[in-house]
Amino acid sequence: MEDEMPTAVITGASKGLGFELARELSARGWDLVLDARDGAVLERAARSFPGTGRATVIPGDVADPAHRAELAAAVGQEGLDLLVNNASTLGPTPMPGLADYPLDRFESVFRVNTFAPLAFMQLLREKLSRAEGVVVNLSSDASVEAYAGWGGYGASKAALDHLSAIFAAEHPALSVYALDPGDMRTAMQQDAFPGEDISDRPPPATVVPALLQLLEQLPPSGRYRASELLAAAGTLG
Ligand SMILES: NC(=O)c1ccc[n+]([C@@H]2O[C@H](COP(=O)([O-])OP(=O)(O)OC[C@H]3O[C@@H](n4cnc5c(N)ncnc54)[C@H](OP(=O)(O)O)[C@@H]3O)[C@@H](O)[C@H]2O)c1
Repeated sequence: MEDEMPTAVITGASKGLGFELARELSARGWDLVLDARDGAVLERAARSFPGTGRATVIPGDVADPAHRAELAAAVGQEGLDLLVNNASTLGPTPMPGLADYPLDRFESVFRVNTFAPLAFMQLLREKLSRAEGVVVNLSSDASVEAYAGWGGYGASKAALDHLSAIFAAEHPALSVYALDPGDMRTAMQQDAFPGEDISDRPPPATVVPALLQLLEQLPPSGRYRASELLAAAGTLG
């Protein structure tokens, strides 16, 4: 029997926002192809999903071309409904100012946050087109605000925003979004603010309804803020 359930690729799905989104889509019966570098944590995460959908886990680093090819090959020929480029790095922490930023580390931040999402869009473009699919690239307010110390991460996310917009212009049949999730209580947020109490940040599960809104309503391709989507839906504030 043909598998009628939608398929999503989500990078960085072992914890934080990627995990919460994968869990929700699994509960809705989606088939998932997931990665993260730590395979044991990823396996454990996928085993905890309540849903009936299949979860294919492929541990690896999104900066590695061979890993990306393996992940893309795991998507069936019938098409890909959703690609979520969620895996990301802050780069060196504490984050150095641009004047002192080691250029090799600057480059490796771009390899994870900017090159890898573009590479996945290239590799999966045909399968996305077959399903008139959706791409969500996780952005940040650091892509538009000039926070001292956030030059590497912020510049990589600004480039991601712009390549998302251009990829959208070049692929009008796809829905291509850059989504700023806002601050979330995750490992990455704690790494950005070492030793600080981050318990006032909302948990990542609160952003999942904004992602679902994009999938269900398919607004025009563009950059969106989760807080605005949620406020418009009356879910927040
Ligand atoms: N948290 C915030 O406040 C915040 C604010 C604005 C934007 N964002 C964005 O939201 C997204 C999710 O962030 P988060 O806070 O949920 O992150 P998180 O909790 O730190 O989780 C990151 C996930 O990505 C995986 N990952 C990291 N580097 C990877 C790599 N090179 N290759 C493959 N997987 C990798 C991690 O697993 P492994 O470590 O095992 O690889 C983990 O599963 C990111 O794009 C981030 O930039 C977050």
